[in-house]
Amino acid sequence: MVRIQRGKLLAFCLCVMATVFLLITLQVVVELGKFEGKKFKNSHLKDGHAQMEAEPLHLHPFFNREGLTLNRKKTLAADSFPIMLWWSPLTGETGRLSQCGADACFFTINRTYLHHHRTKAFLFYGTDFSIDSLPLPRKAHHDWALFHEESPKNNYKLFHQPVITLFNYTATFSRHSHLPLTTQYLEGTEVLTSLRHLVPLRSKNHLRKSLAPLVYVQSDCDPPSDRDSYVRELMTYIEVDSYGECLRNKPLPPQLSNPASMDADGFFRILAQYKFILAFENAVCDDYITEKLWRPLKLGVVPVYYGSPSIADWLPSNRSAILVSEFSHPRELASYIRALDRDDRRYQAYIEWKLKGEISNQRLLTALRERKWGVQDVKQDNYIDAFECMVCTKVWDNIRLQEKGLPPKRWQADVTHLSCPEPTVFAFSPLVPRRRSLREMWIPSFQQSKKEARALSFPVSCPDESSQEEGSPGRCPYTLKQVSIPSEELMLSNCGAGEDS
Ligand SMILES: *[C@@H]1O[C@H](CO)[C@@H](O)[C@H](O)[C@H]1NC(C)=O
Ligand SMILES: *[C@@H]1O[C@H](CO)[C@@H](O)[C@H](O)[C@H]1NC(C)=O
Ligand SMILES: *[C@@H]1O[C@H](CO)[C@@H](O)[C@H](O)[C@H]1NC(C)=O
Repeated sequence: MVRIQRGKLLAFCLCVMATVFLLITLQVVVELGKFEGKKFKNSHLKDGHAQMEAEPLHLHPFFNREGLTLNRKKTLAADSFPIMLWWSPLTGETGRLSQCGADACFFTINRTYLHHHRTKAFLFYGTDFSIDSLPLPRKAHHDWALFHEESPKNNYKLFHQPVITLFNYTATFSRHSHLPLTTQYLEGTEVLTSLRHLVPLRSKNHLRKSLAPLVYVQSDCDPPSDRDSYVRELMTYIEVDSYGECLRNKPLPPQLSNPASMDADGFFRILAQYKFILAFENAVCDDYITEKLWRPLKLGVVPVYYGSPSIADWLPSNRSAILVSEFSHPRELASYIRALDRDDRRYQAYIEWKLKGEISNQRLLTALRERKWGVQDVKQDNYIDAFECMVCTKVWDNIRLQEKGLPPKRWQADVTHLSCPEPTVFAFSPLVPRRRSLREMWIPSFQQSKKEARALSFPVSCPDESSQEEGSPGRCPYTLKQVSIPSEELMLSNCGAGEDS
């Protein structure tokens, strides 16, 4: 994609400053957990930065930069590009014309374009999506698109039918999304089949004299999946080495506990010595899969996985991970792991796919082959670029249909695009009702988000206001009204109700 703007420089500088700050203040394990996921977003900003150096800022949106190859569109008037308004500071870009295949769109975070007649789409970032500040009234030709790659725990409102269906297009971790990001933490097949980090079983057996069979490294404690309760219980049946903030029982080697000398490879070498890694996601949602799964698979360690209920659809082979969901109790899981620990042949069966370099899962192979974005790969678009282009292309497709006098193709997201059930806690560790801890927070918070989502409603028609919108007679611009009601619930109702707001 081609981009022109200055905002990225600022965002990049802030990013660098924030990163330096993080490196100095956080433990190495905190970093390692978060580092990988962020890296390529920064690289996205970085290459924008490099391009900007050569070019002073041009705020005029339809400035056609020299060298900007707008192949087939170059015959079009410069001011004919649809505007895609990011309703989030995510990209930091005040204005950029981007080429998406044969089409081009103008992307900006500048909210003065809210009322521009060429503004065709609003792009939302899930983590900062707020129903209190939406670009309203929504016009009939305003497509809404959701980009949400982060943990589902970041914004529960999005999971509910009234909210997710506000969007025409989505890019989420769900396979049902218009741009599925399910494999967003996986660089490709090569890293899975690579034997670079693999520690031979003989050495692992030898290392077992000083190491536990299992390792756990987590510094985001008590998330919605309640993983720490499970691991705490599991620890009463089997030895677990825990290096992170959560349930820590082992210090990292000195050279790794100094964040300044943080070295991912050194950390991977430690993990690779283990037979099993506890790979527990922070939330349980279909297709929400992070580096927690891929990392052990890359290192040649067997993941003991808890997270996406549909994980079997994404594993490299049918014998590559142990699924916590298949065991009725941590006790059973512990005894299964102990059995594999004692039996080299049975353990090796879980590594065989890697030793043979065989990924038999066609769904995984197809997803990696067909995705239009790369992970930590400068040669490919990143997933934000891909999302922008997905929307740009769909908007253009409809413009072309309308130019031919045909009705536009309709798009609407549904609940499968972010499918997360209400969080639950493990039975062997009941909630303490009046304890105000993070663990106690997730269920009430989910229920609250459900109420807020239900209270969100849009009018189908709104005669009084329809006249305000030109060019779409009989259609009511979407409006939201905030009505203060008890229990700090945010009630959003249609234009007919709640006049006294
Ligand atoms: C936003 O766009 C308006 C109109 O094009 C322009 O006057 C303003 O300077 C822009 N703001 C930023 C922060 O770029
Ligand atoms: C696992 O996959 C292999 C081929 O990849 C197949 O031969 C075997 O039957 C499968 N086993 C199960 C339990 O599905
Ligand atoms: C986008 O969604 C809105 C609200 O559901 C709908 O009115 C509009 O027709 C949709 N646009 C497209 C292109 O499907």
